[in-house]
Amino acid sequence: MERKGKFIVLEGLDGSGKGTQITLLAQELQKNRQVYCTAEPTSSSVGGLIRDALGGFRNSSASELSALFLADRIFHNVNPQNGIRHFLNKGIDVICDRYYYSSFAYQGVDADLSWIIHMNLDCCEIEKPDLCVFLDLNPEICEQRLCGGRMSREIFENLESLKKIRRSFFDVFDILSESENIKIIDAVYSAQEVHSAVMKAVSELYDADGM
Ligand code: TYD
Repeated sequence: MERKGKFIVLEGLDGSGKGTQITLLAQELQKNRQVYCTAEPTSSSVGGLIRDALGGFRNSSASELSALFLADRIFHNVNPQNGIRHFLNKGIDVICDRYYYSSFAYQGVDADLSWIIHMNLDCCEIEKPDLCVFLDLNPEICEQRLCGGRMSREIFENLESLKKIRRSFFDVFDILSESENIKIIDAVYSAQEVHSAVMKAVSELYDADGM
């Protein structure tokens, strides 16, 4: 079936402000279009296994986590009630908090990156986003924000991991520069300024057929 909605992914380190930007973006797009906001990992049963691993309650290798995220992502795409495909086919735009770029950057540090890239990009049940917006923020600032806001930390929420993962995102974006539409936005500015930059990137998607 032909895809009629736009598929927009927001990526960034933990603490980079994705949640705020997704809310602002959705509010803006909803003035003219129908929008569905979603996130990975999902609340599926596989998503539950992932959350246990992220919380440190269950030891999982990076390869196992990659496979769990893959299974969760397939479910996220194809489930008939609220899958990404279902909405895109109905002409509803989908905004997703994290997607396969996170698997490449986070799991790619410790597992075989090319294997992770291929199993995601070659899977016919995983939709390709129209746009990935990466909110780039210094890992030190992300870490400070995480310290301020939460009682418990997930396995990647420490400065050393965040630094490695930021580098990993940039390596991945180099590899994908020809095949994926990725916009990197400096997220150090105020929420409104970052929102304007996000809107500039997103509006290019609609220029051809109008918003
Ligand atoms: P979560 O607390 O849900 O949200 P936030 O995006 O606000 O941090 O964290 C999800 C965690 O899962 C985050 O540390 C990144 C990680 N992750 C992966 O390692 N691989 C993936 O494929 C995805 C989608 C997320």
